[in-house]
Amino acid sequence: MSNNNSQDTVRITRVDGEAADLPLYHGTYGTPCIDVRGMPRDIDCFTYDPGYATTASCSSSITYIDGEQGVLLYRGYPIEQLAEHSSYLEVCYLLMYGELPTIRQMHWFRNRIRYHSMVHEALRRFYEGFRHDAHPMAIMETTTSALSAFYHDKIDINDPEHREICAHRLIAKMPSMASYAYKYSIGQPFMYPDNDLGFVENFLRMMFAVPAEEYRPNPVFVRALEMILILHADHEQNASTSTVRLVSSSGANPFASVAAGIASLWGPAHGGANEAVINMLEEITQSDATVEDFIERAKDKSDPFKLMGFGHRVYKNYDPRAKLIRQACHDLLNELGEDNENQPLFEAAMELERIALEDEYFVERKLYPNVDFYSGIMLRAMGIPLNMFTVIFAIARTVGWIAHWNEMMDDPELRIGRPRQLYTGPERRDYVDIGER
Ligand code: CMC
Repeated sequence: MSNNNSQDTVRITRVDGEAADLPLYHGTYGTPCIDVRGMPRDIDCFTYDPGYATTASCSSSITYIDGEQGVLLYRGYPIEQLAEHSSYLEVCYLLMYGELPTIRQMHWFRNRIRYHSMVHEALRRFYEGFRHDAHPMAIMETTTSALSAFYHDKIDINDPEHREICAHRLIAKMPSMASYAYKYSIGQPFMYPDNDLGFVENFLRMMFAVPAEEYRPNPVFVRALEMILILHADHEQNASTSTVRLVSSSGANPFASVAAGIASLWGPAHGGANEAVINMLEEITQSDATVEDFIERAKDKSDPFKLMGFGHRVYKNYDPRAKLIRQACHDLLNELGEDNENQPLFEAAMELERIALEDEYFVERKLYPNVDFYSGIMLRAMGIPLNMFTVIFAIARTVGWIAHWNEMMDDPELRIGRPRQLYTGPERRDYVDIGER
């Protein structure tokens, strides 16, 4: 195994006495992992772990989460420090290359991303094939996948230079493609990127400017969105990142793999939760039911309703990103004035949080607000349309997906991802002719 700091052995013994001595790996931090690869050979067993809740699929040096303590580190740096001092592009550099950049490196990186911000003109015509009311995540999946048809000149996954160009292209083109999906839906002309602007300003301009008027992004919104992008940039082996790893483990190209990551992210249990939270808060503020009624519904196992933006596979404590976003949301709404239309949603969210955190059901299960609980209110306050929330998440997470892809491609332990199963179907039987069944 690559990158393990020390190694012990664990003995697994079957009741019939057969035993396997398996290596136990200790990383820099976190729960040690038993290397179970010798089990089929030594004791004729696989492991069974639906949802991979206790399985490490790889070793990684990018991001660390301590779910019990509510800690998140990108390449060792606490998320709180990056959110306060860094920029999204600097965090992209950190995630991709492992270190914070020097001034010269940052200048180089910014120029590389700027250079790739436009998309092929022919790709712009793809948008016309969609219904105007198509969900922008559906459009993002398709256009990201289509990039492989336009940029196959530099798509040799075994060439590190090609891999780097693919990575830069993906990070740079996502905001342009996201804004086109939005512009198409509202019937406005697409705005070309303006490479004199920063990454976030450029995105806001492409979203909200029109050729007929000058547009200046609100600096408060720029900083707020910068922070949201930083907080969403990576989260180790989550569903979409694991999807990207699994798809690309077959040697698939990175555009196709990231398109699959976008598909996974869209689900309401993952990145789609930010949109679902706003739908839930709107329902709460507009219905006659109380916040307590919604809490009761979330606890009722016969009701599919869940408290969206609550709970996490890894965090059994307050998600540190949610803490930062709650404060930033509070500051943003204060900046916009107390009577702004998002205040009631924020108050409903805080009331939900207060009641849930005192309720035995949530306390027992260690369910806390996650990153999506307050982020939607911030995006809504900035004028970002609801169906673009998960797209913003996808823009931010692109660097995480691509950093993991790159790490995997360099991993000497890389093998095609191919889980096993516990077969529970019929025993062998013979074919019966259709007339005799
Ligand atoms: N509301 C009510 N009950 C919940 C919730 C919730 N939001 N989340 C978990 N539970 C219950 C769940 O029913 C289970 O109860 P029991 O033990 O009685 O069967 C227990 O808590 C453990 O939950 P789980 O479903 O086994 O946990 P998981 O790790 O498989 O799922 C999760 C994690 C995030 C999918 C889940 O908490 C959830 O669906 N939350 C709402 C959706 C959401 O906010 N997703 C965003 C996740 S963070 C950002 C991201 O990854 O994109």
